[in-house]
Amino acid sequence: MAKKILITGGGGFIAHHLINQVLKRTDWDIVTVDRLDYSGNLNRLHDLLQDRTPEERSRLRTIFHDLKAEFNPMLLADIGDVDIVAHLAAGSHVDRSIDHPMEFVMDNVVGTCNILEFARKQPNLERFLYFSTDEVFGPAPEGIKYDEYDRYNSTNPYSASKAGGEELAVAYQNTYDMPIYITHTMNVFGERQHPEKFIPMTIRNVRDGGTVTIHSDETKTIPGSRHYIHAEDVADATLFLLEHTDTLNIENNTGVKCPKFNICGATELNNLELAQMIADAQGKELKYEFMDFHSSRPGHDLRYALSGERMAKMGWTPRPVDQRIAEVVTWTLENRRWLDV
Ligand SMILES: NC(=O)c1ccc[n+]([C@@H]2O[C@H](COP(=O)([O-])OP(=O)(O)OC[C@H]3O[C@@H](n4cnc5c(N)ncnc54)[C@H](O)[C@@H]3O)[C@@H](O)[C@H]2O)c1
Repeated sequence: MAKKILITGGGGFIAHHLINQVLKRTDWDIVTVDRLDYSGNLNRLHDLLQDRTPEERSRLRTIFHDLKAEFNPMLLADIGDVDIVAHLAAGSHVDRSIDHPMEFVMDNVVGTCNILEFARKQPNLERFLYFSTDEVFGPAPEGIKYDEYDRYNSTNPYSASKAGGEELAVAYQNTYDMPIYITHTMNVFGERQHPEKFIPMTIRNVRDGGTVTIHSDETKTIPGSRHYIHAEDVADATLFLLEHTDTLNIENNTGVKCPKFNICGATELNNLELAQMIADAQGKELKYEFMDFHSSRPGHDLRYALSGERMAKMGWTPRPVDQRIAEVVTWTLENRRWLDV
C-alpha cells in the first residue's frame, strides 16, 4: 500500500512546492492541513494541480484546521493513520512576529506541540520532519557559517518561536523515542511567494518605479546578506531527506539529540546585489536607499549563514540561483495575481 504523508501548511508558499514534488516523484498519498491565514491560499495548490495527472490529483486531500487546537475525533478519522509528517505550517514573517509575538508562540510552539502529540499516537510513524530556519542561530559575523549543532541565538520572536518548536521536537524524539529530525533552511524564493517577502516586494517596487529599501548596517554602507534557495530545491532536499535511509541514524558526535540538517542556498547575495539582479531581469534602473533597520528596530539581523557540508557529504547540493531569480521575476510579472495583493 502507498505511504501517506501529512504535510502541514499546504496552502503556504514552501509546502505547496513540496506537495507538487511529492505528487510528481512518489506514489504517496498526501493530506495537508492548513488554517488558511493571510498567507495561506489554496489557489497555490489549485494552480500546481493543473499540471498534474488526474491520478496524481486524486492523491491530495486538504483539511481545514488550526493547529493551535488539538485534532478532534472527526478530523482524526478523516486524516487516518499516516506514515510521515512534514511540519511546515507556521507564522513565517519576522516583522509580524515583532508586532504580535504571542501569535507566533501559539502557532509555532503550541501548534508544533499539537502536531507532535498527533504524531506520538500514530501506530506506524516512520518519520517526522520539523521544518526550521537558519534564523534560530541569529546573525552570523563575516566568515562564520553555523553547523547543525551550534548554539541557538534567536534574536526576534519569529526565530525564538521556531527554536521553541525545535526544542519540543528534540524532546519528543528523546522522551518518546520518535523518528524525528529537523531541517534549518535558508531564505527561500520562488513562484507564488507572499508579496510581503523581499523578492516579490522588490519585483513590484522596481516594476512600479519605486525606491527599494536595502537593509544595511548602522553606517549605511554594508547591505544585509542572505543565502537564497529556490523552493523547488528546498522540496528536493526535503524529499532527499525523507527518502534517505541514513537520515535517522546519521552520525553525530556532539552529544546533542535528534538529527538536524542544514538546507543551504548555493551563493551568498547581499540585498543590493539581489535588488540589482531583479532590476536587470526587468530591464529597469534600480533606485535604492540604505536603511539601518537594526538600530531602529532590533530583531532584524544583517547576515545569516549556515554550513551545507553535512548534506553535501550525504550527496545533496543546491543548484545555482542567478538564472532562477531571473525566471521567477519573469514568471511573477506574468502572474500578477500573486504580486498585486
Ligand atoms: N520562507 C522562508 O524563507 C523560510 C526559510 C526557512 C524556514 N521557513 C519555514 O518554512 C515553513 C513555511 O514557510 P513559508 O514561507 O511557506 O510560509 P507561509 O506563510 O507561506 O505558509 C505558512 C502556512 O502555514 C499556515 N499556518 C500558519 N499557522 C497555522 C496554524 N496554527 N494552523 C494551521 N496552519 C497554519 C498558513 O495558513 C500558511 O498557509 C515555516 O515553518 C517557516 O518557518 C521558511
